[in-house]
Amino acid sequence: MKNIKACIFDLDGVIVDTAVYHYKAWKRLANNMGFDFTEHQNEQLKGVSRMASLNLILGWGDVTHKTEAEKLALATQKNEWYNVMISQMTPAEILPGAREFVQACRNAGIKTAIGSASKNTPTILNKLQLASLFDTIVDGNSVSKPKPDPEVFLKGAEALQVDPNACVVFEDAVAGVEAALAGGMKAVGIGSPEVLIKANLVVSGLDKMTLDILEEL
Ligand code: G6P
Ligand code: MG
Repeated sequence: MKNIKACIFDLDGVIVDTAVYHYKAWKRLANNMGFDFTEHQNEQLKGVSRMASLNLILGWGDVTHKTEAEKLALATQKNEWYNVMISQMTPAEILPGAREFVQACRNAGIKTAIGSASKNTPTILNKLQLASLFDTIVDGNSVSKPKPDPEVFLKGAEALQVDPNACVVFEDAVAGVEAALAGGMKAVGIGSPEVLIKANLVVSGLDKMTLDILEEL
């Protein structure tokens, strides 16, 4: 591989579909406060940090009177419900082709990293038995600026000692694609080309990725 020295993968929606668990936990929280939100609204939570997600949801429910301490308690409650669900995950929930493509990168001498906003990244990677597939893991515990700020991916590139312009980021969120591009990296969107319009390439999943496609980016 001439130009590409590292691949950085978002976790939720790229390696594993945890979005359904985030949705169930946030929905339960909203329902407890007496309102609901749609699956379409839920799309806007992709790649967005826990507290920023809560603020969006409270806005949808016209809940304007919560103190910071109350917000923290709500986010903690959501995370507890979410953790009950992810604690039951198995490697069967790894998205199609994800393990195979990451392994193919490694076999070709390309470094691999996780770049995720989730503070639950270590738990999820352990449940999926995938932690050893990545040379470095940058997650919500080690970054301060949320996507679309490129911090999470730049930290990954730095840890791998690879120049950003030799990195490719795999992302299912609009904010994540923007973060990759802002960091001077290439972005492969995972999902729909109509949504991830800024990505250099969009595929439906890592099962559609090959080293040949990577080389042509
Ligand atoms: C990912 C998900 C978001 C989630 C965020 C924080 O970016 O796409 O839906 O809110 O991580 O996750 P956490 O596990 O820290 O609550
Ligand atoms: Mg994602």
